[in-house]
Amino acid sequence: MTDKLVIFDTTLRDGEQSPGASMNKDEKLRIARQLERLKVDVIEAGFAASSNGDFEAVQLIANAIKDSTVCSLSRANDRDIARAAEALKGANSARIHTFIATSELHMEKKLRMTPDQVFEQAKLAVRFARNLVSDVEFSPEDAYRSDPDFLCRVIEAVINEGATTINVPDTVGYAIPELYGNFIKNLRQRVPNADRAVWSVHCHNDLGMAVANSLAGVKIGGARQVECTINGLGERAGNCSLEEVVMAIKTRRDYFGLDLGIDTRHILAASRMVSQTTGFAVQPNKAVVGANAFAHASGIHQDGVLKARDTYEIMRAEDVGWSNNKIILGKLSGRNAFKQRLQELGVQMEAEADINTAFARFKELADRKSEIFDEDILALVNDEAVTNENEQYRFVSLSQHSETGERPQASIVFTVAGKEVKSASDGDGPVDASLKAIEAQVKSGAEMVLYSVNAISGSTESQGEVTVRLQNSGRVVNGVGSDPDIIVASAKAYLSALNKLQSKADRVAAQG
Ligand code: KIV
Ligand code: ZN
Repeated sequence: MTDKLVIFDTTLRDGEQSPGASMNKDEKLRIARQLERLKVDVIEAGFAASSNGDFEAVQLIANAIKDSTVCSLSRANDRDIARAAEALKGANSARIHTFIATSELHMEKKLRMTPDQVFEQAKLAVRFARNLVSDVEFSPEDAYRSDPDFLCRVIEAVINEGATTINVPDTVGYAIPELYGNFIKNLRQRVPNADRAVWSVHCHNDLGMAVANSLAGVKIGGARQVECTINGLGERAGNCSLEEVVMAIKTRRDYFGLDLGIDTRHILAASRMVSQTTGFAVQPNKAVVGANAFAHASGIHQDGVLKARDTYEIMRAEDVGWSNNKIILGKLSGRNAFKQRLQELGVQMEAEADINTAFARFKELADRKSEIFDEDILALVNDEAVTNENEQYRFVSLSQHSETGERPQASIVFTVAGKEVKSASDGDGPVDASLKAIEAQVKSGAEMVLYSVNAISGSTESQGEVTVRLQNSGRVVNGVGSDPDIIVASAKAYLSALNKLQSKADRVAAQG
């Protein structure tokens, strides 16, 4: 008999806390549906009490998701917990995740509370949450840097109040695998009622060890839930990466001996969806989902893989969603072939009208680009999904001129609240000229803190995917745009970032 390892995805909560990664509620719902397809056990959909936007996103996801448990974070107070319960009302299976810091440093400097006050508040919070839902997770924030005696006292008390999952966060990514594993093992041995809860790991990647620490928490410590995010998205160096931890458990089942509910074939589509939505590109050499993860450049390796794939491959590319079928569709492909490919890529579009719009955009793209790759389709569908009817700015057309020895010129047409405006500018390069032309009209005053271009499918025929990160009055947003013409992609990305700057609501920081 093997145990099951619970996969708790927090892309939409802890992942989204990464500056610039904020998503609107439709984007979050799309990702939540993909997580459900992936058969993630628990989806942490947000922090309902932090803003109205977060509340609505948690509510939307709770009402739509049927197969995964939907969870909301909440600080350890009645107002936050009641708000979380309210947002989760429509869920088939709901969890409240409440937390309070337990390290000396956090209690004294951040909370300005004594350990006894924290102890009481943790108990009251779990008691209150258990009156509202039956599934309650408790996190002693900064647990790994907390005094183990105090931690044992708090954990024993919250389990007595009915906490069903105990999470042990390494909030600042300070742990070392063996030490973290033993830390959890020790807690489990010392807490008398430890067996009445599922133990969970939650590791940040500041020293690059989030996945290793999580695996040690499972193997040495006996944790049976891992908290993770797609692509390891998260503040600073990010969180434990879902795809890596899942594939480690699956590939080394001989060692871990654990079962997973995850349908790994949807991993790649989830990774692309998250990177395209947030503008956080995946590095080519990233394990499992990076463009090079299954590419064998060296002749010796290629020869080996052709003779017997397991000479150099420990996982099958198709098991995580990579397809051999690279060139998939072209100008002559029909609506049915397009629809079928969407299904194979895990893109769910029920409304015929949505399929028709996406197909019309596909045809437009196929007129300009001879071969359409999976990556193009995913970018196109993502662009469509993030284009919101009520957006303030929308791209219409662009022309630019650049010649050696001359200063580039660009003129652009876009809509502002549905009304077309034209603008022109020169610049240091054609991209600079185009973005200056937009800024001449919009006058956002935002500072550009990142501009990056990525070839979606790896050749010069590829679409360019541009990410623009803007900062204004302390807010940071990412905009993403794709097009075979990278100057157009840049203008789309800039407008998308401006739209996000407009709509991003203020929210309370979870750990602030
Ligand atoms: O890193 C952390 O401590 C957290 C908690 C809120 C669980 O994200
Ligand atoms: Zn965290």
